[in-house]
Amino acid sequence: MNQNIILKIAENNQEVEDAFRVREIVLTDELGFDIASLTDEIDEVAKNVICYALENSSDGVQTRKPIGTLRYFVHGESIKVGRVAVLKDCRGQQIGKKMMLYVEDNVWNEAEYAKIKQIALSSIHEKMGFYEKLGYVSIGEAYLEEEVPHIYMTKKRPQL
Ligand SMILES: CC(C)(COP(=O)(O)OP(=O)(O)OC[C@H]1O[C@@H](n2cnc3c(N)ncnc32)[C@H](O)[C@@H]1OP(=O)(O)O)[C@@H](O)C(=O)NCCC(=O)NCCS
Repeated sequence: MNQNIILKIAENNQEVEDAFRVREIVLTDELGFDIASLTDEIDEVAKNVICYALENSSDGVQTRKPIGTLRYFVHGESIKVGRVAVLKDCRGQQIGKKMMLYVEDNVWNEAEYAKIKQIALSSIHEKMGFYEKLGYVSIGEAYLEEEVPHIYMTKKRPQL
């Protein structure tokens, strides 16, 4: 399925709610993570990337359907990415990859992140292939988060 999409940072309450709704559908309803879709103190500082599919109704009105999200925030000299979620029927269309590259584009190029040395994340162990394709490298041993094996992964800032 080819569809027009837009990627953006959630800028208002509706867009943040859209991001949290995708989180809830994927991370809680589908994967069974209770904590992962709840808001926490990180949400007060994190940026949410939201991906919308653009749809044209028969009367010519364009609507946008939230289909993917992730959040990222500064943690020391790292950016931490989390809550990565794409609706089930929208997977395999490079949406997850585009959201991750959107973060990289911001982090490597925006002045506010000039001191950031790497992007880090805690991947569900069986999903690490998705991040490896994007150049992330696993560090250390697997550990349990919400009883599911995870692995810490990082991608260093490209050298100039
Ligand atoms: C993991 C997830 C975000 C990937 O999103 P997606 O939009 O389906 O992935 P993309 O289509 O962008 O995939 C990009 C590439 O990664 C590969 N890929 C995707 N999921 C993969 C996986 N689990 N293992 C290995 N490779 C994977 C794709 O084959 C594709 O390869 P290509 O570039 O050679 O074609 C999505 O499957 C998802 O939301 N899963 C449920 C929630 C989840 O597990 N979140 C991650 C928690 S760590």
